[in-house]
Amino acid sequence: MPAKFISTCFLIVTLMPVMLAQKATSINVQMNNVQLVFTLDEKGTPQYAVNYRGVPVIKKSSLGLQLSDVSLDNNFEIKGIDSTVYDTNWKPVLGEVSEVRDHHKELTIHLKQTNAGGKLMNIIFRVFEDGVGFRYDFPKQQDLKYFVVTDEHTQFNFAGDHKAFWIPGDYDTNEYPYTHSRLSAIDNRKLVETSTDIAVRVAPDPYAVQTPLMLTTDNGLYINIHEAALVNYPAMQLHVNQKTFSLSSRLVPDPVGNKAYLHAPCATPWRTIIISNKATDILASKMILNLNEPSKLDNTDWIKPMKFIGVWWEMQTGKGSWNYSDASDNVDANGKLVPNGKHSANTANVKRYIDFAAANGIKGVLVEGWNYGWEDWFGNWKEKTFDFVKPYPDFDVEALQQYAASKNVNIIMHNETSGGATDYERQLDTAYRFMNRFGYVAVKTGYVGKIIPRGEHHDGQWMIDHYIRVAQKAADHKVMVDMHETVRPTGLNRTYPNWIANEAGRGNEYNAFSIGSSPDHETILPFTRCMGGPMDYTPGIFKLRGYVPGAPQRQMHSTLAKQLALYVTLYSPLQMAADLPENYAEHMDAFQFIKDVAADWQDTKIIEAEPGEYITIARKEKGSANWFAGAITGENSRKALLPLDFLDNGAKYVATIYRDAANADWKNNPGAYVIEKFLVDEKTRLSLSLANGGGAAVSILPASASDLKALKKYR
Ligand code: NOJ
Ligand code: CA
Repeated sequence: MPAKFISTCFLIVTLMPVMLAQKATSINVQMNNVQLVFTLDEKGTPQYAVNYRGVPVIKKSSLGLQLSDVSLDNNFEIKGIDSTVYDTNWKPVLGEVSEVRDHHKELTIHLKQTNAGGKLMNIIFRVFEDGVGFRYDFPKQQDLKYFVVTDEHTQFNFAGDHKAFWIPGDYDTNEYPYTHSRLSAIDNRKLVETSTDIAVRVAPDPYAVQTPLMLTTDNGLYINIHEAALVNYPAMQLHVNQKTFSLSSRLVPDPVGNKAYLHAPCATPWRTIIISNKATDILASKMILNLNEPSKLDNTDWIKPMKFIGVWWEMQTGKGSWNYSDASDNVDANGKLVPNGKHSANTANVKRYIDFAAANGIKGVLVEGWNYGWEDWFGNWKEKTFDFVKPYPDFDVEALQQYAASKNVNIIMHNETSGGATDYERQLDTAYRFMNRFGYVAVKTGYVGKIIPRGEHHDGQWMIDHYIRVAQKAADHKVMVDMHETVRPTGLNRTYPNWIANEAGRGNEYNAFSIGSSPDHETILPFTRCMGGPMDYTPGIFKLRGYVPGAPQRQMHSTLAKQLALYVTLYSPLQMAADLPENYAEHMDAFQFIKDVAADWQDTKIIEAEPGEYITIARKEKGSANWFAGAITGENSRKALLPLDFLDNGAKYVATIYRDAANADWKNNPGAYVIEKFLVDEKTRLSLSLANGGGAAVSILPASASDLKALKKYR
């Protein structure tokens, strides 16, 4: 029973079923601006529509599934309706806010097919103040026990040719740049023809896109389509009908073309539609988290936010290598690998990183390339590539653990699988016992390349369950996990709070090994990839040009101040300071912001936002009086306005502003920044000038007596 369970009787007032025809029935549920209309049409097909302030958002759209031996699209009758209002609060272990309100009306339509077999299927809707979630639910029944889903027929019929921020419906990766176009212009083949980006490739369905899909309408609405609680089911993509603006669900297939193998009682993930007339509300929405199950872990004291540096960017930029030797058959007379002389994960180099972390209060050091397997990791030719407990000869596990512990630093384990999920599962016990034995508190996993079991996809049902098995195994061993190259998240960090981050999108690393991401990329990510959960984006690159040996033209599409702002605008409880210690050493005044900024929050204020254009966010550190703000812009310079009315009344704070210098811009002068300190209070309104591709970061900490004397008031 929920803590603040309100009533089961709203049906009487608001859900009066309206008999349309002999069989057809329509039911309305209203929650502030959002209205859901459920209809069962003459053919017994379930349908729904969604309105926002009376304006159609989703026009009448049908619901249903195709099983291997039966269609669940029509011939239904309503056997019963349940309705309940919930208003509860819960506390995420790590999050953007310390407490989340879950206020929704739930409507369950119990359906039964009228034809032979009489299959039972429920559709459960949850109507929130900021949108609607719904799922298919299969109760225990005689004639539907084990079954195979071959297609899902959920429609999202939009009212117009909206503008979309989209990436192609690839079954294996989300590491694409976003395209901004009308629905009618979505065509993956055209993208492949015109793009020079290494990530862009032919997707199976030229008209399919991935979720979260962010849409803006000509009448001023912001609509986000995604899913919540993706468990035991493949990821949903959306096929776009360019003429009718009707989108329909496409599930990622398994090697034989099936989509999901289910066993009743069971339910599909929630399909989510978040709507507002304000872009800021989309970023503030907690609907996806609310649709996930509470934590499965009883004790979560060991789960902590973490900032980390890593033996990483030097490999990404080609200065060092993951592999110890140039080839696995490059061995000496004793059969030992011949070193290539540029292996980054060597004991002395790792100590250098540990020293930098210890000196600067950074808790974690990620070390990639420490274990056997990297000589021929790419391409996944063999079933077994990596050994997750066997260090290279120049990486001294024990000595490094002792060294790190003596300096109060944690080394973060790295388990790249190169898609070899079966082999990873075989080694899971050994790998996680190894982490416990040597005191590793967190692991980064990765799935670069094709999946084994062969023919499976990163976003198919088998892999969805694999990621969850890994998260659960990590939890059993009290290890936090950050997964790369997985399916995009769907709020499961609520249920598995040790699954603290994912990549599953195009991270900062693309600025190292490709043409990079355009300056608007980070203003789109929060509205798309990040709607489902935190991203390990790896911000904080300070050397903005010439960081790739032999490629002087390679550069970040960002100013230095924007790299700082990303620690606030891109939420993650796991934040990397991704650049090399020697590059930070040249800007320790700016590095101060990375040292200070929190990664777990009491409160979050989305101040201003427009996808593709700009984002300004302020957040209060959990259990502290400190606030941090970040403002970023895309290609265009702008003034970000930041009223500090959220500060405690009457209290004085020191605002340290890290901003673009007047002559900064991402292309020609990215490294020009200014740091200023002022006294501020709740009446202050900061005006921050952001360069093209620029940003500003602000720490707002309580003022001391000496600050009050020494500093000027902000004007
Ligand atoms: C891709 C990941 O995104 C990156 O962070 C990692 O360094 C490489 N794979 C190697 O595991
Ligand atoms: Ca990646």
